[in-house]
Amino acid sequence: MTNINVLTSEFQSIFNTTNSPRIFFAPGRINLIGEHTDYNGGHVFPASISYGTYALAVPRKDQKLRFYSLNFPSTGIIQSDLSNLAFNEADDWANYPKGMILYMKEAGYEINQGADVLFYGNIPNGAGLSSSASIELATGVLVSGLFNLNMERIPMIKLGQQVENKYIGVNSGIMDQFAIGMGKKDHAILLDCQTLDYKYAPIKLKEHVIMIINTNKQRTLAGSKYNERRSQCEQALSDLQKELSIQSLGELSIDQFETYKHLIKDEVNLKRAKHAVYENARTLEALEKLQQGDLNRFGQLMNESHLSLRDDYEVTGVELDTIVQTAWELDGVLGARMTGAGFGGCAIAIVENDKVDDFKESINNTYREKIGYEATFYTATIGDGAKELSKEDQL
Ligand code: GLA
Repeated sequence: MTNINVLTSEFQSIFNTTNSPRIFFAPGRINLIGEHTDYNGGHVFPASISYGTYALAVPRKDQKLRFYSLNFPSTGIIQSDLSNLAFNEADDWANYPKGMILYMKEAGYEINQGADVLFYGNIPNGAGLSSSASIELATGVLVSGLFNLNMERIPMIKLGQQVENKYIGVNSGIMDQFAIGMGKKDHAILLDCQTLDYKYAPIKLKEHVIMIINTNKQRTLAGSKYNERRSQCEQALSDLQKELSIQSLGELSIDQFETYKHLIKDEVNLKRAKHAVYENARTLEALEKLQQGDLNRFGQLMNESHLSLRDDYEVTGVELDTIVQTAWELDGVLGARMTGAGFGGCAIAIVENDKVDDFKESINNTYREKIGYEATFYTATIGDGAKELSKEDQL
């Protein structure tokens, strides 16, 4: 557990002050099912987790912004100014909070004072648990709270996505910011990414837990094939639009897709679109099965999702496949799949409580042998979305 008192004294020593900072938190997320469907106007089913980003801040009298991350001590204090928040390569990770503050200002929120801000994240960076959306939303709730902006959640979520798309340059969908901004303890969120209609579904897994398995393969989204996948889906959509009046692949049923798929000229684009359409259908079915308490079918749908991401969307890779395929063979595993963008990052598995130790051991034996290093395991607890921490939360 993260000790808030320790973070507070780190803040005071780094910024050389006796002031007590206010403390905000934004979680990371897992996605139970519905992968690479958000930017295709389909459904996703994510949940916010108890790991995330802590942000501690004290306002300043001037216009300066000073950022420090306990995760990147070597970059030291990164200084910026409210009058110049343009992207700057040299500012490294601090571009995320800078981008968020810039876009809040541009959206008309009055931010006239700077701040000293300390970040600490206990989600692994670049592991597909949305450390970047977590820092964006942590900044959002912090700035809104510190300067009494009362910013509503949906606009904050949308700004976070804009930071990712325009400021950082990753063409990601709305899922991560939404899950982190709207998360609710012990619930996942079924989100229609076209309309932003959503509903909470309680996650009751009886004698099972959700395990998160980090491949520990380093990757960054900006450098990955993420943007390429997105444009392949857009090309497939534009082929289909020659005869269908649809705005997104998410509007298609499986039957409609099968009837019109011949319109998609390129074979690779066809596979990408097939994944988007079938995955959307699987996501809706998954919610239904969960509500009926049919965890076995829920698990199978997770497995089918992984196969589709492996064979049709081609975003898994040997590390994720090794973990997931090993998990499928193990006793007490209801389902397993990659989560997030893929290309490395994390897998999730629903595992029987008393099989967790065997699970870890078996996965790591195979993983070590095949990949050459270890995977890391976390038990997922579904926590609340981004918020200021109260005294009780801080205990
Ligand atoms: C990343 C993106 C999301 C989503 C997933 C894949 O996490 O940020 O918008 O597209 O990949 O489902």
